[in-house]
Amino acid sequence: MSENKKRVAIVGYGGMGSWHARHILASDVCELAGIWDIKPERRALAESNGIHVYSSLNDLLADKSIEIVTIAVPNECHMPIALEAMDSGKNVVCEKPVTLNHEELEKIIDKSKSTGKLFSVHQNRRWDCDYLIMKDLYASGKLGEVFSIESRYHGSRGIPGDWRAKKEHGGGMMLDWGVHLIDQILGIACDRKIEKIYCRCDHITNDEVDDGFKLEIYFNGGFTAHVEVGTSNFISMPRFFMAGRLGAAMIEDWKSDCRVVLCDEWDEKDVKPVVTAAGLTKTMAPRDENTTTEFVIPRPASDVHNFYRNICRAIDGKEEQLIKNNEVLRVMLVMEAAFRSDELCAVVDFEDIV
Ligand SMILES: NC(=O)c1ccc[n+]([C@@H]2O[C@H](COP(=O)([O-])OP(=O)(O)OC[C@H]3O[C@@H](n4cnc5c(N)ncnc54)[C@H](O)[C@@H]3O)[C@@H](O)[C@H]2O)c1
Repeated sequence: MSENKKRVAIVGYGGMGSWHARHILASDVCELAGIWDIKPERRALAESNGIHVYSSLNDLLADKSIEIVTIAVPNECHMPIALEAMDSGKNVVCEKPVTLNHEELEKIIDKSKSTGKLFSVHQNRRWDCDYLIMKDLYASGKLGEVFSIESRYHGSRGIPGDWRAKKEHGGGMMLDWGVHLIDQILGIACDRKIEKIYCRCDHITNDEVDDGFKLEIYFNGGFTAHVEVGTSNFISMPRFFMAGRLGAAMIEDWKSDCRVVLCDEWDEKDVKPVVTAAGLTKTMAPRDENTTTEFVIPRPASDVHNFYRNICRAIDGKEEQLIKNNEVLRVMLVMEAAFRSDELCAVVDFEDIV
């Protein structure tokens, strides 16, 4: 046991719980006390990896050396475990989506206030390089007035067949991936208020929950975000596209740099028309490259260890919590409005909370 490191215990040792375990084992600010999982085979796996296994959730929560409990179980179990952990005097890190609805999240926020324990959500995709580039570019004003952004994740294997395919467990792609993409959009357009929302959910491989969706978020000032997740797409569309009055930027996929084209000269003389089989067009003809400047923004360095570093410093009162609960609540309200819009097949008003 190290004196300077905070001890963390993980509830749920599945895909993400084991990621947290590996991550905490490599951390400079916290150390792994152990795990609890309801499945014997996951407990056996943890033991075979040299990790202490508690005999029950109660046993874990009774360990006074633990300061942080990380919750990495299916979504419907987040709230009861978070409430119990805070009642037991633990600070809590919870996986996304934090809860199934905003009422559950409000109960957690109230509990955090009444116990004085920190509660934060692992919105780890705030450390994604593509997001960091877009956030920075939007804030820089280099593209002039930005009027739209598009953010997409596309896969081609349908929705996973585990709990993610079931409504009772909080399955579906909106809660699984939408939560990340919406959180990122609200982080990029942090100077704007949401006015309206429109969403259509897909049910290509699954009737019970959405296996993809197309969401429009209409912000004040005429700025629109298109957020899209697809799980039956054999050709992926670009990960990010942003358009401003003076230029555009695009990131193709997870690993690419960002391509930026800036307009140097709006008025182009002698536009060469594109001739198509059905006629010709000057409006849609490519620009003469002398009227634009093109460059690449390389992927920045990003260290997701800063998540737990921030949690530890926030517990000690040395830093503000980075992933704020009102931000997570706002994302939850957007997802609820999206589901409402899908049900009504209509644009819905959004009462923003910022
Ligand atoms: N932030 C990310 O990038 C990211 C990525 C994947 C998953 N997640 C989130 O992590 C959570 C877990 O997802 P996963 O992919 O690891 O799922 P998983 O099915 O791989 O693992 C879940 C584990 O929780 C255990 N479990 C279920 N109920 C439990 C309970 N009441 N008490 C103790 N253990 C319990 C299961 O036995 C299983 O081992 C979900 O909320 C998911 O959305 C986040």
